[in-house]
Amino acid sequence: MLNQTMDHAKINTIERHILDEQQSHPEATGILTSLLYDIALAGKVIASQTTRGGLVEILGKTGTTNIQGEEVMKLDELADRMIYRLNDHTGRLAVMASEEQEDILPVSPRYPVGKYVLLYDPLDGSSNIDYNVSIGTIFAIYKRTSTSGPGILADCLQRGRNLIAAGYLVYGASTMLVYTSGMGVHGFTLDPIVGEFLLTHPNIRIPEKPKYYSVNQGYEKFWSEGIRRFTKYLQGDEPDFQGQYCKGLSMRYIGSMVADFHRNLLGGGVFFYPADNKDPNFPHGKLRLCYEGAPLAFIVEQAGGTSSNGNQNLLDIQPESLHQRTPMFIGSRDLVEKAEEFIHTYDSRE
Ligand code: AHG
Ligand code: MN
Ligand code: MN
Repeated sequence: MLNQTMDHAKINTIERHILDEQQSHPEATGILTSLLYDIALAGKVIASQTTRGGLVEILGKTGTTNIQGEEVMKLDELADRMIYRLNDHTGRLAVMASEEQEDILPVSPRYPVGKYVLLYDPLDGSSNIDYNVSIGTIFAIYKRTSTSGPGILADCLQRGRNLIAAGYLVYGASTMLVYTSGMGVHGFTLDPIVGEFLLTHPNIRIPEKPKYYSVNQGYEKFWSEGIRRFTKYLQGDEPDFQGQYCKGLSMRYIGSMVADFHRNLLGGGVFFYPADNKDPNFPHGKLRLCYEGAPLAFIVEQAGGTSSNGNQNLLDIQPESLHQRTPMFIGSRDLVEKAEEFIHTYDSRE
């Protein structure tokens, strides 16, 4: 006789899960479903290369610099090309934009033009590649706003509120894909032998009680008073504006935002990369609104959390350029709201 517990643990693949979600949208054409599946496939290919990183001669720097002025690693290029190549000819997209490319990537006139727009950070946390530390991929899907021909810049510069779907892959001890299409946040773990993403984390909700805060505390000397005091609050050393103390959270910082975000999404807490005066060229911090901020903001909101640039929800910011930076506070609602309070109180008068 079948073991009842085993029998009740339903096994669901990402393909079936996405198709099931599609059923609840009778108007759906299946194009978004296919697009998400293409991204999952790109994730599998990148994961296979990432885990082989130390074996093949893929590590090391290419010697070129990207639009952000950072050294490009070979895995960045590989991930960038893989996502592009799996999506340029499918007829599902009008335009793409990648964190690694200066300009938008409209679909070639050789291929049919679709109605969706894909923005992606092919490898997030790339400074960790050489150290066998978790890295990730982030993606954001919008509907095009232009009406014909290949997509244009305006299709890519949409507020996060317009997102149709967003997600990330994290290449860690195991590879996971986490996504939302506005119906909750769902996490899948790659079975590397079978080659399928299986549903392991349905309906992720960020815990009410936070455990972690994540920030590069090495930059404390570049912070404003509001950010310093907010961090003291998280450590349990500074009261909030009602005179209440936080119990003191654990600090965790990997330096791969996807991995830091993922841990805090499951464990509860806040990740932040504030504005600082470290580099006058980047007064708004390091992270990019379109490729990193908006997609994770959509995910966190679907999981019951929230995000801010210190003043405004990241989803409400109208991007003005593809690679614009933003201060970022993301995670448990209560902590993100506290960050805003500290910033309004101590920094607005600077
Ligand atoms: P990317 O590798 O896509 O350029 O992003 C790296 C980002 C992010 O993943 C991480 O949180 C942050 O850089 C770490 O920066 P610091 O080293 O300045 O803390
Ligand atoms: Mn990144
Ligand atoms: Mn990147």
